[in-house]
Amino acid sequence: MHEIFKKRKSVRSFSDRLVEEEKFQEIIKAANSAPSAGDLKAREIIVITNSELRKKMSEAAHGQKQVMEAPKLLVFVALPEQSAKKYAERGRELYAMQDATLAAGFAWLEAVEHGLSASWVGGFDEKEVQKILDLSQNQKPIAILPIGYEK
Ligand SMILES: Cc1cc2nc3c(=O)[nH]c(=O)nc-3n(C[C@H](O)[C@H](O)[C@H](O)COP(=O)(O)O)c2cc1C
Repeated sequence: MHEIFKKRKSVRSFSDRLVEEEKFQEIIKAANSAPSAGDLKAREIIVITNSELRKKMSEAAHGQKQVMEAPKLLVFVALPEQSAKKYAERGRELYAMQDATLAAGFAWLEAVEHGLSASWVGGFDEKEVQKILDLSQNQKPIAILPIGYEK
């Protein structure tokens, strides 16, 4: 972990090299292993590879080019109502966001372990992302993680 912490940095420029499926599956596994309040996992992870969708997502992220460049995007979505069923307001306002955030952090660190790079994109138009991904009001995208090899 110490080496991973030292290596991790925000990478905003990606090469065309694709992410190997085995590595990608390990990243997803790591994200899913993140702890969550009451083990409710009040979060979803959406995987985007399609270049047209990546372009739309980049536009929704105020033109941040790393969102278009990276061969894989992970979108972390909080499910406030799922957490609210058990934890009421605290689940709705806080825990669901924390569940999704921790999963994103775990995915980023696992990506680094496999020689990949990522960065955190929080600057995006939430409603626009909900529209692009056909999400409901109860699915709150909190972070986009572009993943790939650094250029
Ligand atoms: C909540 C959050 C939102 C962020 N949003 C963006 C973003 O929209 N675009 C971006 O390029 N970096 C974004 N970052 C990355 C930070 O700018 C970056 O982590 C910070 O400058 C430290 O650099 P490092 O990650 O290389 O250590 C975000 C980071 C966090 C934690």
